[in-house]
Amino acid sequence: MDSIVIFASGTGTNAAAIIAYFEQTQRAKVSLIVCNKPNAGVLEIANNKHIPFLLTDKHTIHEALLIDQLQTYNPSLIVLAGFMWKVPDSILNAFPGKVINIHPSLLPAYGGKGMYGHHVHSAVLAAKEKESGITIHYVNEAYDEGNIILQARCEVKSSDTPDTLANRIHKLEHYYYPRAIEFLLNR
Ligand code: GRF
Repeated sequence: MDSIVIFASGTGTNAAAIIAYFEQTQRAKVSLIVCNKPNAGVLEIANNKHIPFLLTDKHTIHEALLIDQLQTYNPSLIVLAGFMWKVPDSILNAFPGKVINIHPSLLPAYGGKGMYGHHVHSAVLAAKEKESGITIHYVNEAYDEGNIILQARCEVKSSDTPDTLANRIHKLEHYYYPRAIEFLLNR
């Protein structure tokens, strides 16, 4: 069974969707969750699902040690799901072509440093966009600029608030992220 490592900093709804999907299909398993926030909701998910987790901190991280630990899980993919700091180049170099991310807009629109969560949705609404969506992409050294694997679109309604748009986008994420991962594993 392929091994997937998830990096997440927040609530972890995407992590939960990926775990649930692969529990059903048995095509892969989430073998480790890496997190940089000691009180993140994703840690509760890790606990409930008995998935080991690793807490890391960008100020004290020992990159070579983290790489060693990641390698013991032999990940086919490292999946960023709301991970709030830039993955060090040393990790990208240790796992070439294996690190992917999901972004809640149609990149290259509304990407880059500072564009996360409600900042994205507020900017989309302020620009009166008619549609938004998600982008699943490879991670490289530049924020949100790696090659695109998949994009999915949704309508932006004139009545939308950042919250209602975020909900619609989350639904797309929960559907497509596990399936995109499966597609990559099956290539
Ligand atoms: C998602 O919207 C994703 O696009 C972004 O971070 C958010 C994580 O949400 N990269 P959750 O913690 O999975 O609910």
